[in-house]
Parts: sequence; C-alpha cells; structure tokens
Amino acid sequence: MLKKILCAVDGSDYALKAAEFASDLAARYGAELTFLTVSKELKVTEEVKRFMHAEHLTGSPQYVLDEMTDRVLDQARERAKTHGIAKPKTEVKTGHPARAIVSYAERTGADVIVMGSRGMGDFEGLLLGSVSHKVSSMAKCTCITVK
Ligand SMILES: Nc1ncnc2c1ncn2[C@@H]1O[C@H](COP(=O)(O)OP(=O)(O)O)[C@@H](O)[C@H]1O
Ligand SMILES: [Mg+2]
Repeated sequence: MLKKILCAVDGSDYALKAAEFASDLAARYGAELTFLTVSKELKVTEEVKRFMHAEHLTGSPQYVLDEMTDRVLDQARERAKTHGIAKPKTEVKTGHPARAIVSYAERTGADVIVMGSRGMGDFEGLLLGSVSHKVSSMAKCTCITVK
C-alpha cells in the first residue's frame, strides 16, 4: 500500500520527529523514502554585491544557504539510519514550500506525505503551521502531520 513516502523537512525539531515517523513507516512497509527540503531562492542584488566587494567579503552568500540545506538533510538522513534505512533519497527544491512539496509529490507519485505539525516559525500557540496546513489541503495523496 505504501511504496513511496515523501517526508518534508525544514530543519525544525518537529520535522525531525516527522523524519523519525516516516523512517519507521518506510522500514515497516519496505517503502522508498525521500526527504525533501524547499530552500529559499537567494536574490543577490547589486547592492549586496557592492557591499561584499567594499567589505572584502569573499565567498558567495549562496554557500551559507547551501550549507544550511545540507545540514537539514543530513539530520534527516541520520534519523533514517537509526531505522535501518541507509540510503534515503534527498531532494532540494526552491520556491514556495507548500506548492513545491505538493508538486514534487504528484510528479513522483508519492503515496503519502509526512511532515511536522509545526516548523521553524515562531507564532506561539499555533497547533498547525501554514505549510503543513496548505500541503494537507492541496495534496491529492494522504498526508500525515506528526504531532
Ligand atoms: N521549506 C520547507 N521545506 C520542506 N518542508 C517544510 C518547509 N517548511 C515547512 N515544512 C514542513 O512543514 C512542517 C510544518 O512547518 P510550517 O507549516 O512551516 O510551520 P511553522 O509555521 O511553525 O513554521 C515542517 O515540520 C516540515 O515538515
Ligand atoms: Mg515554516
């Protein structure tokens, strides 16, 4: 019944809990597991370039973002490993998080999307974040929001 599991991760503890849940599901069903993170589209404006040049800042701002993205996926991979899944797939997309998650799920034929109930946002008191809310309403497949 579950052949392809898509788990959306954003670096939050909630998402790691979702990664744990998705890994356990994948192990029990012998399903393929993919971790997807949607990264920000970095716009390095001329103003930023001039500032970096003036301050002798080397390297690209993209580097920091890429490092963060790698870290997010590494942490998820670690969770999968503890459940005996040595090589989960990992994907990075850019753009609008909820739309990117849903369209990736549809394109790849995911049977279920697993995500955290909350993420990196800091609106206290909310039980459900906007990405998890939008994904569950937009996706055609089953969604699991891990609490
Ligand atoms: N950029 C993202 N890439 C992948 N998954 C995400 C992203 N943002 C949120 N998610 C998923 O949605 C869950 C809920 O996050 P979100 O709705 O953004 O809550 P919050 O408003 O607290 O940030 C996260 O635990 C994660 O599973
Ligand atoms: Mg968020």
